Amino acid sequence: MKKILVIHGPNLDLLGDRETNIYGKTSLDDINAMLKERAETNNVNLDFMQTNYEGEIVDAIGSASKKGFDAILINPAAYTHTSIAIRDAIAAVKLPAVEVHLSNVYAREEFRQTSLISPVSTGQICGFGPYSYILGLEAILSLKKT
Ligand code: DQA
Repeated sequence: MKKILVIHGPNLDLLGDRETNIYGKTSLDDINAMLKERAETNNVNLDFMQTNYEGEIVDAIGSASKKGFDAILINPAAYTHTSIAIRDAIAAVKLPAVEVHLSNVYAREEFRQTSLISPVSTGQICGFGPYSYILGLEAILSLKKT
């Protein structure tokens, strides 16, 4: 693993202020900094993106291989529960993709307990706050080296 694309979905730019009782007070910049530090100690490059637009996520996944990424770390946020397009993009791209969530989506509202993404992901990690991302990165690094 040399280059990993980190995708943050809708409203994750608001972390730190947004429903802090659920998502905590860590900002997205802080999460990215934590990830970057962990990646550097493993000699891996990360590219970060955050978007509120489904199509931008689909485009990023679809072009990830061509752009030289070896894997995808994604928190699809609310699109987890609704987006067949993101699911199909992950199924189409021949890269490992690890799905992460800050909150334990299975302990929340019923509509959050279904992930359209998990069946096509390499695996899913949820419920550990910002540390879910670190665990997701570790999971990717643990995959067979390319
Ligand atoms: C989330 C969980 C989703 O249900 C929600 O829509 C989010 C964040 C999480 O990280 O816990 O925006 O993906």
